[in-house]
Amino acid sequence: MSDSTAKAWAAIEAHDAPRIETLFEDDGRHERFAFDAAHLHFDFSKTHLDADLVAHFEALAGATDFVEQRRALFAGEMVNVTEERSATHVAERGEGGREDNEMATRLRNRMRHLIDAIEAEAFGEIDAILHIGIGGSALGPALAVDALGRGGTKLDLRTVSNIDGEAMDEALIGLDPGTTLVIAVSKSFSTTETLENVEAALDWLSGAGIEDPMAQLIAITANPERALEYGIDETRILPFSENVGGRYSLWSSVGISIALALGWDAFEAMLEGAAEMDRHFKLAALDKNAPFLAAASDLFYVHNRGSQARAFFAYDERLRLLVPYLQQLIMESNGKGVTAKGAPVDRATAPVVWGGVGTDAQHAVFQLLHQGTLVMPIEFIAVAENEDSQDPRQHRQLLLNAFAQGAALMTGKESEDPARAYAGDRPSTTILLERLDARSLGALIAFYEHRTFAEAALLQINPFDQFGVELGKEMARAIDDPEARDQFDASTRNLIEKAGL
Ligand code: F6P
Repeated sequence: MSDSTAKAWAAIEAHDAPRIETLFEDDGRHERFAFDAAHLHFDFSKTHLDADLVAHFEALAGATDFVEQRRALFAGEMVNVTEERSATHVAERGEGGREDNEMATRLRNRMRHLIDAIEAEAFGEIDAILHIGIGGSALGPALAVDALGRGGTKLDLRTVSNIDGEAMDEALIGLDPGTTLVIAVSKSFSTTETLENVEAALDWLSGAGIEDPMAQLIAITANPERALEYGIDETRILPFSENVGGRYSLWSSVGISIALALGWDAFEAMLEGAAEMDRHFKLAALDKNAPFLAAASDLFYVHNRGSQARAFFAYDERLRLLVPYLQQLIMESNGKGVTAKGAPVDRATAPVVWGGVGTDAQHAVFQLLHQGTLVMPIEFIAVAENEDSQDPRQHRQLLLNAFAQGAALMTGKESEDPARAYAGDRPSTTILLERLDARSLGALIAFYEHRTFAEAALLQINPFDQFGVELGKEMARAIDDPEARDQFDASTRNLIEKAGL
């Protein structure tokens, strides 16, 4: 670590922040820390960020070449150093380097042609999609369609990820094999869960008397050779760039299920919203840059307050899949133990990410947030415009609850009875969407991507690899071989025996 980096971290760690309420004595605070970006409203004022703390993070940004790292990301340079690749999800939104943008456009046109063919009944009449994929090959499309498809979708989208047959059983309920298109999504086209589920889907089709089940299967992959070897016809394989990471892939051909379920215009509007956030992240000054300020606040709580957890609560039922999406994005990207250069990290990286939906969570887990010994930053995500068909007072109550929680966490309440006292000074950020639509959802997801990148850049780790998941996969393969079982410990051998495997 360079001297300037060590100095910047030392200043962050030593920063003695007053209570948040005290910070509000500065009249300009709210205006400084609450602003709009890409048409989303961000309010960081109920955190401990102040001008001095932001200046410490700007110093850290200078010391870690943050601006250069960000430029390299958008230019399509090799930012994923351990895998010797660029990370070109921004090019999918037209905001990357010229060649990457062009390639993304070509691949998107190809996706558009396939969608046109599906809609023109080249696969017969299709009324449902069985989307098979796991992790980044499922979470993004599932979130988008669950969030935006409440008013009805063009097709019935079912997503199946788990290798547990119960998941497939549930996904198939009520589907007609004759009118269901199976979409296998796998960047590597070698993920066991996905390939097992594709087999299960093909068995389901042939079991129902479909003569050529393979003709009802489409593959979305960055490894088209593997899909070809699998026996899928070239015309039914949609490639995407291997420089698009799985958890950043919903913008690529992986988004086909979004486009089929919600329509092409909605998919394009998501890309536009994300591009708007790209431009904000690229161009806004750091002290008015939403992803940068969010990253600064996140890192402050980990490194100054020792918060090893971060919670997100969507006060909107339509965003109930946001937390699982963020868990992969943040924990798989930044749950690292070495720097991008391979040296052991000398500080904590990603915290545990969890959360849920409000107001349900208030009646289940908020006790700990208000009075527990574990203090962590909390994020509220709410939507101003009401689109449900119930009495508007319900939506009003929903929003008021979100805002009241943030205020209560900050102010706390004194009491002579310690059990009834609230210490307060508990930080929260709020993101308010004017309305939940394809554009705002795209901007919101891109905000989280860039916040994750900004944290990684300041921590000098590589957010784009995920070697930590490999050992478990290897052991799962080895354990399936009876000959190799002796190598396993007594506990594991006993569990296998008890389960009758
Ligand atoms: O095992 C982790 C992981 O590789 C994720 O990064 C990825 O999103 C998921 O598995 C699925 O991988 P694939 O798209 O190659 O099937």
